[in-house]
Amino acid sequence: KSTMIRTVFSRSLPRLCRPPACHYSAGAIPEPCSQPEVHYDKLFINNQWEDAASGKTFPTINPATGEVICQVAEADVADVDKAVKAARDAFRWGSPWRRMDASHRGLLINRLADAIERDSAYLAELETLDNGKPYAMSYTMDLPTVVKCFRYHAGWADKWEGKTIPIDGDYFCYTRHEPIGVCGQIIPWNFPLLMQAWKLAPALATGNTVVMKVAEQTPLTALYVASLIKEVGFPEGVVNILPGMGPSAGAALARHMDVDKLAFTGSTEVGHLIQQASGSSNLKKVTLELGGKSPNIILSDANMEDAVEQAHFGLFFSQGQCCCAGSRIFVQADIYDEFVERSVERARRRVVGNPFDLKTEQGPQVDQEQFNKILGYISSGKREGAKLMCGGGVAADRGYFIQPTVFGDVQDNMTIAREEIFGPVMQIMKFKTLEEVVTRANDTKYGLAAGVFTKDIDKASYVSNGLRAGTVCSEPSQQRLVHLIQHHDYKDTTSICNL
Ligand SMILES: *[C@@H]1O[C@H](CO)[C@@H](O)[C@H](O)[C@H]1NC(C)=O
Ligand SMILES: *[C@@H]1O[C@H](CO)[C@@H](O)[C@H](O)[C@H]1NC(C)=O
Repeated sequence: KSTMIRTVFSRSLPRLCRPPACHYSAGAIPEPCSQPEVHYDKLFINNQWEDAASGKTFPTINPATGEVICQVAEADVADVDKAVKAARDAFRWGSPWRRMDASHRGLLINRLADAIERDSAYLAELETLDNGKPYAMSYTMDLPTVVKCFRYHAGWADKWEGKTIPIDGDYFCYTRHEPIGVCGQIIPWNFPLLMQAWKLAPALATGNTVVMKVAEQTPLTALYVASLIKEVGFPEGVVNILPGMGPSAGAALARHMDVDKLAFTGSTEVGHLIQQASGSSNLKKVTLELGGKSPNIILSDANMEDAVEQAHFGLFFSQGQCCCAGSRIFVQADIYDEFVERSVERARRRVVGNPFDLKTEQGPQVDQEQFNKILGYISSGKREGAKLMCGGGVAADRGYFIQPTVFGDVQDNMTIAREEIFGPVMQIMKFKTLEEVVTRANDTKYGLAAGVFTKDIDKASYVSNGLRAGTVCSEPSQQRLVHLIQHHDYKDTTSICNL
């Protein structure tokens, strides 16, 4: 399993790590409609649309304006029970899903990819409306990656083979790969469609059934994909999608006695709660993909122009709302001043505004809570003595827009250097030697990702090997290296998203 997951990840990584400029010209993007119609706002259980048992709804907000887009059904304990029952029934021995040929599962997943591709422009509009990310990004990065993720896993459905094992004696010993069962999946709001694909595709390819709780900030695209799941012919109950809140619907899924596996992507705080809920219920398997405060290390021999642009993209991409954002930038002393100056100049040029405008590079943060939290971190940076080089404030008189912000002279013990900000706020630190920077980069409770910029492959390899991070990207020459850690004593690392 791990090998496959890593392959997927490394294939999609370059798209997430590189600046988009080379991927599209404005001419190739269809003119978006900034008010796409919302077709689905209910719970999706057993291939049916249902109101919440409580009758409750919650508003989903357009972060560019702060206005309500629509009301959405709010799942709670009773709805989670109902969805788990549907998923359990779809998984029963002899059900259409359990009897389905593996190749046919692959075909259904491919058909889902086709339907998503057909409706890409609409889905990208809806993603931008609900999340605030620039339409140019939704259309050229999120949607194609989603389609590829489904197609990749569709191909695995019938290539999942066991082993025969020559044990001593008169035995025929073999392994048979089985689905786990009912998979609970809780996904975040920063890449709503992509996170949905990363979770659904491997679970379905391997024959599981799913109850997915989607983030309350961004429920709309997941519900549209639910309609496509029904359209392409997945049997009832195989996929159930519930918009709802973490403390009610999410917690009910995490502690459910009839859920066999729980995959969560989100904050480290909630990750602790999920692991505890498994421990105090049925010990369901748990996969966590949590926060990060990833170091990005720029050595003095790096190509300056490229390093500045990549570091800019690596931090500001997706409004800074990216778990693997390179948010601690360590720059070698002899190039520090030039790097800071150029990074500030690049941040000042960043186009912030209406996410439906194709020239926009940065839209609003996802909601008021994140907006307030990020402004709080900016204040703490100023208070603790970091040097505010640009930005630092609100960027529009409505919506949740924040100016691209750069802090220089950041010290390792400052709050902005230790905590995940999840916003457009860059921290730049100075270092002298490689030994020093590896030690400082490792001094964090996180370990999701890291980057190294140098033209010297020996230095890239030295630093990559020393860093305690699941994924290290380095840039020694034209070809980027991706260094993925697999811990010898564990089948999975928590640093890479999977099922
Ligand atoms: C960081 O450490 C320095 C030196 O020990 C100290 O003066 C400073 O107050 C510390 N800053 C924070 C934010 O803890
Ligand atoms: C990371 O830095 C720490 C602290 O200096 C060091 O002990 C460790 O060996 C480094 N590398 C790894 C892989 O832990």
